[in-house]
Amino acid sequence: MTDASIYPVPAEWKTKAKVDAARYAQLHGRSLADPGGFWLEQARRLDWIKRPEIAGDWSFDEKDFHINWFADGKLNVAANCIDRHLATRGDQTAIIWEPDDPAEQPRRYTYAQLHKEVCRFANVLKAAGAKKGDRVTIYMPMIPEAAFALLACARIGAIHSVVFGGFSPDALAGRIQDCDSTIVVTADEGRRGGKKVPLKANVDQAAPLCPSLEKVVVVRATGGGVDMEPGRDAWYHDLAGMVADECPPEPMGAEDPLFILYTSGSTGKPKGVLHTSGGYLLWASLTHEIVFDYRPGQIYWCAADIGWVTGHSYIVYGPLANGATTLMYEGVPNWPSASRIWEVVDRHQVEILYTAPTALRALMKEGDDFVAKTSRKSLKLLGTVGEPINPEAWRWYHEVVGEGRCPIVDTWWQTETGGAMITPLPGAVDLKPGSATKPFFGIEPQLVDGEGHLLSGATEGNLVIARSWPGQMRTVWGDHARFFQTYFSTYPGKYFTGDGCRRDEDGYYWITGRVDDVINVSGHRMGTAEVESALVLHGKVAEAAVVGMPHDIKGQGIYAYVTLNANCEASEDLRSELKQWVRTEIGPIATPDAIQFAPGLPKTRSGKIMRRILRKIAEGDVSSLGDTSTLADPSVVDDLVANRVA
Ligand code: WT7
Repeated sequence: MTDASIYPVPAEWKTKAKVDAARYAQLHGRSLADPGGFWLEQARRLDWIKRPEIAGDWSFDEKDFHINWFADGKLNVAANCIDRHLATRGDQTAIIWEPDDPAEQPRRYTYAQLHKEVCRFANVLKAAGAKKGDRVTIYMPMIPEAAFALLACARIGAIHSVVFGGFSPDALAGRIQDCDSTIVVTADEGRRGGKKVPLKANVDQAAPLCPSLEKVVVVRATGGGVDMEPGRDAWYHDLAGMVADECPPEPMGAEDPLFILYTSGSTGKPKGVLHTSGGYLLWASLTHEIVFDYRPGQIYWCAADIGWVTGHSYIVYGPLANGATTLMYEGVPNWPSASRIWEVVDRHQVEILYTAPTALRALMKEGDDFVAKTSRKSLKLLGTVGEPINPEAWRWYHEVVGEGRCPIVDTWWQTETGGAMITPLPGAVDLKPGSATKPFFGIEPQLVDGEGHLLSGATEGNLVIARSWPGQMRTVWGDHARFFQTYFSTYPGKYFTGDGCRRDEDGYYWITGRVDDVINVSGHRMGTAEVESALVLHGKVAEAAVVGMPHDIKGQGIYAYVTLNANCEASEDLRSELKQWVRTEIGPIATPDAIQFAPGLPKTRSGKIMRRILRKIAEGDVSSLGDTSTLADPSVVDDLVANRVA
């Protein structure tokens, strides 16, 4: 291969990896030709109370819409992640915890200790009234107790709903209300980059809005002062002292819910993505082993937050199901300095590192010295997820961080998919910077045009998945019709990802980004409608339209057009106030990067905002605004262009 843009599989990976090119072709082929046989065989990697005899049973057609995997099987997810390892690796480290402040000592938990911690946590939840099927909201910092809480829910069959610790009290309340959680697990405070996050105080603000909420269990993390409401609130350590450290795992049907995780869509409120037990765990575990070529004993670090699906699948469930040593980091990548990630790698001899393009771009900007002064000799494999990685950042990761010796797995997937879907396997697939490369076992990606016509060969279109896979979400909590409508109605018979994608002449997939009204800010999804709703709640705002704009570090930034009420003056102060407003309403990740005051928005005669035009202006691409003749008032465009916020 002479093409400089191709990075061939290194020789030693070809021979040593679990899956080489021939095996990938064979397994992927078989997974599509004989899905029943293939998946029942794969299902043996889990410990079943009752082994399933049926694999996939599904239809994406409206008349007969259903998705089931291994439906006759019974298992417990926590027992798969803990108990079954006790005999063989009870004394092996399961979780390494690296604190925010590097001056503090890391903590380590063996599988045997994890077992006790999770059993105790499970008994605390039971004592607080949690039963199988109840929803438990987890609003926690990145401390080991967060992982214990997830696994404790899984152990007793309660459904966890993790809410990212950066979300506001209102956003938290909305998520508690939507699934009628009876219990919230939180901590006094979180810590990130030396700053405190008032988690318990946020819960106190959210709680009065949540009629279903009965108990708040508070883990002492920082020792910061909090108010405790008698009857409702209890310290975890008080409850834990009163319960046993043995708790039998609840037998669960493979299709019993495991968790809900809220994610933004193109319209409406965030959706509660529901994942079930058997198929999800199989997907998380299989992809973790094969994509990262995970070997027992390796130290593996996924630098995500447990508040996102990446943390669920690749900090907790996948690695622990595989008996791995998983590192959990409390802090942020650039504190106390831009060397921190690499220092953590050296401190714990991390072999596999999985992070996001936005973090890499931010660190790359600080210069290579922060990397060069660390060793990183332990690193063998690098991974990325969350958004398309620009080739420049990819090459920096490969050359500077990995010193040219570590393959990079660029894993494309979504909250909805449970785990990696299009991704290189490091021993099998030559890499092209910026391409997520090839489909994982069982995945049949297709590209379709706007009318749903199948496109073949090298082409570009909308990415759909033509058949179900075990890790697929099963419903939107409380709104099955919305589940069908969102994902299966645009291109009948297929799962629509919301992403645009190019396929090259070698059959490699290149994700081009969202084609709907979702923006990807630092690898996190933000619905434009959510930011708009927050803006119009402000007394001075009459109307708002939000679009994405290119951003050097975040990938996409948030650009908001705001029309003020009559008699309200636009000003710099109001601009700052509105940014702060959205921050408070939703959370820091939703803060608009730019706000343009607009006397009018470009609307069609039927009143529909033409976002295409707003996107172009936000991008600064004002020479190609396209046809504006169908606008009710074409003159608003000139004003928008003239007053663009640079
Ligand atoms: C959206 C899903 C998957 C966990 C993190 C985000 C984008 C994700 C990649 C990648 C290009 C990617 C897509 C997708 N995305 N990974 N490797 N290359 N784009 O999960 O919040 O559900 O967002 O993130 O646009 O649809 P999410």
